Amino acid sequence: MVLLKIDDLKVHYPIRGGVFKTISDYIRAVDGVSFELKEGETYGLVGESGSGKSTIGKAILKLINMTSGRIVFNGQDLSKFSFGQMKPFRQDIQMIFQDPYSSLNPRKRVADIIAEPLRNYQCLTVGEEKKCVQNYLDKVGLNPDSMYKYPHEFSGGQRQRIGIARALTLKPKLIIADEPVSALDVSVQAQVLNFLQDLQKEFKLTYLFIGHDLGVIRHMCDKIGVMYRGRLVEEGISEEIYENPQHIYTKRLIAAIPELNPERRAQKTELRKKIAKEYEQLYPEYFDEHGRAYDLKSISNTHRVAMP
Ligand SMILES: Nc1ncnc2c1ncn2[C@@H]1O[C@H](COP(=O)(O)OP(=O)(O)OP(=O)(O)O)[C@@H](O)[C@H]1O
Ligand SMILES: [Mg+2]
Repeated sequence: MVLLKIDDLKVHYPIRGGVFKTISDYIRAVDGVSFELKEGETYGLVGESGSGKSTIGKAILKLINMTSGRIVFNGQDLSKFSFGQMKPFRQDIQMIFQDPYSSLNPRKRVADIIAEPLRNYQCLTVGEEKKCVQNYLDKVGLNPDSMYKYPHEFSGGQRQRIGIARALTLKPKLIIADEPVSALDVSVQAQVLNFLQDLQKEFKLTYLFIGHDLGVIRHMCDKIGVMYRGRLVEEGISEEIYENPQHIYTKRLIAAIPELNPERRAQKTELRKKIAKEYEQLYPEYFDEHGRAYDLKSISNTHRVAMP
């Protein structure tokens, strides 16, 4: 079953200038993106900084206004709802943020941080709430006594687990994980990623997983959508994208992943030399006359590529 369907989503931010602060132009942060997530699957959005990944996540949660398009969640068209009307859906869609240092309120105890979403939606007694908080701390591998501590008493990886516990308490269907491990030490990254995968099985979660590291994304995701300047330039099953990339930008991303195998490492070094930064000039066949990536076209049942 399709849980989330994004249809021709556009988010344009106005640029204001001059004395009268009139709108002089728009940043096309997301410029006509369509994809869907099936229940239980992990869909990875990957692309360079500024390509519009987080904007898509925020638009789904109505943290920002979309310019046009449709976002259908569990059969309901969210684009029609105001921020207030989104309340029942916000319970089903939770977000995990990139930075475990700034995303937790430093003045609140862990118990209050985790219980906050619960308090917005349910009336639990003090005892029920405590049990629930302890239960989720246990689920994310933290000592139940952690509930009496403050965020600064935890490491980055532990804080991210607190953020995850908070996201889980309302039993969401969809979790948008926006670079959930980018701020963590490499040694802790794998731990948190494996743990997210375990939780997915236990709670039957669907993930929209945002990242810029294709190595991490490939490890986590069933399907990958590659973003470049507000557009999807390629989409497919992870292995397909990794083994048989078609778009020049996808090829470049893959060439940038460190490689242990010497033969493949040599191939990648060669590829990196070939693919320079200015794709639009060097590879005009991948972009239209405005330097904008083409619409996606299917090249197999599971693989779509931006091409004329
Ligand atoms: N509130 C805003 N007002 C104006 N422009 C914005 C705003 N938020 C984001 N942008 C612009 O929209 C574009 C997309 O930003 P977004 O945060 O979605 O990128 P991203 O792919 O998540 O990048 P990163 O990997 O760095 O997190 C960028 O050019 C950014 O400068
Ligand atoms: Mg981002």
